[in-house]
Amino acid sequence: MPRTIVTHSYKGGTGKTLFTMNLSTCLAQKGYRVVILDMDLSAPSIHSFLPKYLLDDYPKINESLLQDVPIEKTLIDFSPFVNSTGKLWIGVSSNKTEDILRTTRRNANEFNQDASKLFQWISLLKSNPYNADFIIIDTSPGISFSSINCVATADIAYVLFRLLKSDITGTGEMLEGLHSKMGCEIRLVPNQVPENYIKDQKIQSKIRRILSDSLGIESNPDMILDRMLVQEPLITQNEIDKILSNKDGTREIHITNPTDSRFKETILQICNALKDS
Ligand SMILES: Nc1ncnc2c1ncn2[C@@H]1O[C@H](COP(=O)(O)OP(=O)(O)OP(=O)(O)O)[C@@H](O)[C@H]1O
Ligand SMILES: [Mg+2]
Repeated sequence: MPRTIVTHSYKGGTGKTLFTMNLSTCLAQKGYRVVILDMDLSAPSIHSFLPKYLLDDYPKINESLLQDVPIEKTLIDFSPFVNSTGKLWIGVSSNKTEDILRTTRRNANEFNQDASKLFQWISLLKSNPYNADFIIIDTSPGISFSSINCVATADIAYVLFRLLKSDITGTGEMLEGLHSKMGCEIRLVPNQVPENYIKDQKIQSKIRRILSDSLGIESNPDMILDRMLVQEPLITQNEIDKILSNKDGTREIHITNPTDSRFKETILQICNALKDS
């Protein structure tokens, strides 16, 4: 059965976009038909993974929200770039300040209309000719009309956070006040965890116990604590190398890197668990 997934977090910079790109690519490489919708309307960054010449040829999701451009027109077929046996289409949001302001500075009523559009897009993308198995929506952090709309459409919400006091407390509040009221399944993903804390079984169980208590995992049957993603030095190194080489290069989708890494292995496990659930 096709599923709608949302990646969300309380704080910014928790790794939602990186997770979205890697998980989606993993699913497409396993033969699934995947659509990514970039619904981080206030600070989009999916575009940083795509070459500029490709981006210039397509309307942005903002135009679908504001001017009724059909959502299909925004979809870039990214499948050939990730050597997938399945399909990967990406609808990108505009990072131009003017477009961001026009899209985000609207009233509650207009955001309500966005919600119905989002539901319509999802049902369209699940049908012919897209027949999407997974629609993966990347959102902006925190609680906003736009992120609430996205969570409302989702079957599964991956909620990412770092092991920081403020992040865990905020995430707990948000889960209680938003996600648990939306009826979707919640999969919590701690990200950027130092490798020595992942390798050490005792520390692992301690972290899991503390998170379970502070996030109310046991008392909510729709919530699970998923695998922890490691702070991956290769990702940081690759991003800095891109800057040093002074090229207008695209960001790497880490699971396409031939080098084995713990990050890659965990994304594969999360991907397998998702497809089998
Ligand atoms: N596990 C990780 N290992 C190394 N670097 C990471 C990891 N997760 C995220 N990063 C890096 O952290 C930065 C923020 O990641 P990303 O843009 O995916 O976060 P985000 O939650 O989408 O941010 P925003 O809230 O601004 O949308 C990026 O440079 C990314 O490469
Ligand atoms: Mg992001």
